[in-house]
Amino acid sequence: MKIIFLGAPGAGKGTQADIIAKKLGIPTISTGVMIREALKLETEMGLKAKKFIEAGALVPDDVVIGIIKERLVKSDCQNGFILDGFPRTVPQAVALDAMGVALDAVVSIEVPDEAIVKRMSGRRVCASCGASYHVEFNPSADGVNCDKCKTELTTRKDDAPEVVLSRLEVYHSTTEPLKDYYLEKGNLKVVDGVGTVEEISSRTMKALGV
Ligand code: AP5
Repeated sequence: MKIIFLGAPGAGKGTQADIIAKKLGIPTISTGVMIREALKLETEMGLKAKKFIEAGALVPDDVVIGIIKERLVKSDCQNGFILDGFPRTVPQAVALDAMGVALDAVVSIEVPDEAIVKRMSGRRVCASCGASYHVEFNPSADGVNCDKCKTELTTRKDDAPEVVLSRLEVYHSTTEPLKDYYLEKGNLKVVDGVGTVEEISSRTMKALGV
């Protein structure tokens, strides 16, 4: 299956993408994860993206479209994939169409802004393997280290409250219009993103028919 996960920052796209990708045996492709990796390695693309990420702004379309084009031709994408965080603008969606990707579903995970702010303030991430936790809603086993690779968990710089507010503004003004884009194409599935991680996984699987 070829699936897009849409949703505000902190809506739970990454958390659900990991669960559903495992169930379907397909990779998750997260532009956010790839950009943070490039930042860490200080590649040319990472350095270009730095000021946008830290301000809670979107990285320019040509940069992310280039990343996705290169990623989707890899062999592990042949049986499908979940795109987490791409597309985020109408030009990105148009570029994806131009790549000839026939989507099975676009899942919009919907969470009110007030709940998003709470989720982001408690998020802890593993800088080594990228796993994401929450101090209250989804803690690691010992609350300090990553369950998968045992690295000490940290916070993301763009989870600072003032950056979260900018990211939410960008979501509402620039990314949310994609819901209409995919509604018109007939593949939008709206999932209520309020509830436990397990409840949202089962709603998402039901929406996907898997
Ligand atoms: P990216 O990394 O994609 O960030 P995002 O979309 O803002 O989404 P997040 O990763 O913050 O949240 P999520 O929805 O995955 O939620 P999660 O599952 O972690 O992008 C970062 C930046 O990169 C962007 O701001 C932009 O600059 C750039 N970028 C990326 N893609 C781009 C593109 N296409 N174009 C341009 N620029 C781009 O969950 C959040 C927290 O809530 C966690 O702590 C989790 O444990 C917890 N949680 C999850 N589910 C629940 C639940 N049901 N109940 C309670 N807590 C929950």
